[in-house]
Amino acid sequence: MHAPDFSLKNKLALITGSTQGLGYAIACAYAASGATVIINGRDAERINRAVTSIQNAGYPAQGWAQDIGHLDDQASAFASLVEQVGVPDILVNNVGIRIRKSLAVSSFDDITTMIQVNLVAAIGLSKLAAQAMADRRPSGGRIISLTSIAGQLARPGDAVYPVAKLGLQGLVHSLAVEFGPYGITSNGIAPGTFATESNRELANDPVKGPVVVGRNPLGRWAQPDEITGAAVFLASPCASYVNGHTLVVDGGFSVTF
Ligand SMILES: NC(=O)c1ccc[n+]([C@@H]2O[C@H](COP(=O)([O-])OP(=O)(O)OC[C@H]3O[C@@H](n4cnc5c(N)ncnc54)[C@H](OP(=O)(O)O)[C@@H]3O)[C@@H](O)[C@H]2O)c1
Repeated sequence: MHAPDFSLKNKLALITGSTQGLGYAIACAYAASGATVIINGRDAERINRAVTSIQNAGYPAQGWAQDIGHLDDQASAFASLVEQVGVPDILVNNVGIRIRKSLAVSSFDDITTMIQVNLVAAIGLSKLAAQAMADRRPSGGRIISLTSIAGQLARPGDAVYPVAKLGLQGLVHSLAVEFGPYGITSNGIAPGTFATESNRELANDPVKGPVVVGRNPLGRWAQPDEITGAAVFLASPCASYVNGHTLVVDGGFSVTF
């Protein structure tokens, strides 16, 4: 008889977009669960701050300054990361941006930026990581993508984000099917409404903030730490047979009407 194994001991985890918000919370939880974490973002100072704070808590962390949306140098940047620190055992596709606009007022640039950063970049990085994980068979790997309940639920004034997130959901499935034979699992986490920095304005809006809370069966925003149970579970030995699944973490928001 033994307790379920949630340990990430000896694992190397790359979490994209992890200088703040959900990515940072996931990185801290992975570090505390035994993984060496790679903090990613576009700003060296912010990366350094996050790395230092994890190291000061007594855990190993490294930084990777790379704009995930830059596709031209994605392959070379990933190759030099692997050369420096090794092939990640866990990739978390966490980077996400949201330009809240209706289609009518979205420029072509708004649309392509959203699709490129939220979707194409994740496809490209997952391809690189999955191939590198597969090449060192039989150790396998884990790919976890942060989708959104907005991949299933559309709202006026926010047209392209749901398209990108539903596309990411497709990536979760494609990776699961193609790389499952190599022992690599692919799963999604679909967050609901988390009180991260990117949602501060909405959370503090005297009209829209209470509407969001009022629609949620738990009657509140989630704190960033509340994503970590799902993220650790999907990366851990406990989830060894979970593949192609998306775990919704939304307090029940998406099952009300
Ligand atoms: N918060 C929610 O309620 C919610 C709900 C549903 C889904 N999600 C999804 O969950 C993920 C995280 O959300 P969040 O609210 O924690 O986001 P956030 O607070 O905006 O943080 C985004 C992180 O990504 C980094 N980043 C942004 N663009 C980048 C790029 N091109 N290359 C590298 N790093 C980049 C930012 O760092 P730098 O600025 O330092 O580069 C930051 O660390 C996103 O995919 C989001 O769509 C969130």
